[in-house]
Amino acid sequence: MTRPDAVRSAQIAIHSPTGQQAKALAAQLVTVYRDAFRAPPYSKRKAEVLDLARSLPQHVAREGFHIVTAVEVQTDQVVGFAYGYANTPDQVWHEAVAPAMSPPAAEWLAHSFRLVQLAVAPPAQGQGIGGCLHDHLLRSQSYQKAVLSTLAAETTAYRLYRSRGWVVLLDSFFFPGVARAYRIMGLKWGGKEKTIRPDPTPRGKMGRFSVSI
Ligand SMILES: CC(C)(COP(=O)(O)OP(=O)(O)OC[C@H]1O[C@@H](n2cnc3c(N)ncnc32)[C@H](O)[C@@H]1OP(=O)(O)O)[C@@H](O)C(=O)NCCC(=O)NCCS
Repeated sequence: MTRPDAVRSAQIAIHSPTGQQAKALAAQLVTVYRDAFRAPPYSKRKAEVLDLARSLPQHVAREGFHIVTAVEVQTDQVVGFAYGYANTPDQVWHEAVAPAMSPPAAEWLAHSFRLVQLAVAPPAQGQGIGGCLHDHLLRSQSYQKAVLSTLAAETTAYRLYRSRGWVVLLDSFFFPGVARAYRIMGLKWGGKEKTIRPDPTPRGKMGRFSVSI
């Protein structure tokens, strides 16, 4: 079901499903997303959760789509996932976000990857899985920079991004029709600037596992 770059060990495996496989996993991805974003400060409601189910087929079809999943080996259940795609000029970011940035914005939005989703089911959080998914997804990109949006709050996600070298490009940005402020962040890697961890090895009760890139 997955490409052979998934390396299994005691309890958790990191997989890189194809787009078609990701669509087949939609119900599991939505469950992880719903549970991960249920608590404050996100407090996502059912309609917002269903947005993921609706948008997934479109996202899968986008240029550069890439997803990684963390799967509990014994049950074959997805406990976390991260995905993104190329930041192509047809996307709302170029229309809505770029004008709010200072002139070097084009540098961030051109030829970059966008980290679109990162979520780990609450029982599996705090054990290195989110960081591992982040690192695995970005290490396998041919791009050398990436952007993301995250709620403008002191969240675990924000700490994760900062600890991996993401910088704030816009501290408080309102997407059209969205009431809450988001932070726009960027990450460059390659050469001396590389900040993505070389050997992500999660720890904790889910057991150790390794990832071959
Ligand atoms: C953000 C999220 C994906 C992180 O996944 P995770 O598996 O819990 O994260 P990890 O255990 O890999 O920890 C990653 C980093 O987060 C920080 N962190 C994790 N748990 C933390 C906690 N309870 N308190 C403070 N910091 C914490 C640490 O800085 C850690 O960095 P390190 O690798 O230097 O130790 C997960 O918490 C989640 O799904 N949250 C809700 C959804 C969300 O916010 N998604 C991102 C939206 S942009």
